[in-house]
Amino acid sequence: MSLKLVLVAGSSQPSSQSAKVAAYLRQRLLELGYCTAENLSLIDLGATPLPLWPAEDASGTWANYAALLREADGVVLISPEWHGMASPALKNFFIYAGRRELGHKPALLVGVSAGLGGAYPLSELRASSYKNCRLCYLPEQLIVRHVGEVLNGDNAVDEPDARIRARADWALEVLVQYAQAMRPLRTTIRFDSAEFINGM
Ligand SMILES: Cc1cc2nc3c(=O)[nH]c(=O)nc-3n(C[C@H](O)[C@H](O)[C@H](O)COP(=O)(O)O)c2cc1C
Repeated sequence: MSLKLVLVAGSSQPSSQSAKVAAYLRQRLLELGYCTAENLSLIDLGATPLPLWPAEDASGTWANYAALLREADGVVLISPEWHGMASPALKNFFIYAGRRELGHKPALLVGVSAGLGGAYPLSELRASSYKNCRLCYLPEQLIVRHVGEVLNGDNAVDEPDARIRARADWALEVLVQYAQAMRPLRTTIRFDSAEFINGM
């Protein structure tokens, strides 16, 4: 059975570098044969934003996203670094997303920076975000620095571009291995124990 993965581009800009990185990683997952196109979904929080919770979700955006996430075996979470923080759109996403969508699924974190940043959003998300939804962050992570200059065409233009492309392939391979290995967990761990519905 082919793996189902969801990529979440966390920038709230309608056309963002984070979405560019998400599209690149999606393409690599296809080219490396890890997923089929129908099993690979992209949530772009800039192009199709979630309302700031608890505003009314008249167009049913969350229902569409939740359906994709519930089917997923793993996720890729891409956050731009904004003022040294994870993106507000991604923090808002975690108000919506719970254990039914994300519980005991592996997640590859990807930080995006126009300069030399990109690590702060990843440590912020590792420190908070997973408590109630029980998302499992991989020990491997990806930081795309000088994002405007890399991952732009089919081929690397210089050594830093080649290096981040190789690193991205490695991180995706790790995600896929965890996604395969963790599949059985979700049939054995009790999800709906009312006593322990939230993490400590
Ligand atoms: C409000 C704002 C704050 C930003 N703060 C940082 C920052 O603290 N560190 C950093 O490396 N880049 C920062 N950037 C630049 C982003 O890294 C850059 O916009 C990059 O393209 C990722 O954002 P995007 O996915 O929305 O395009 C900031 C950008 C914006 C719009």
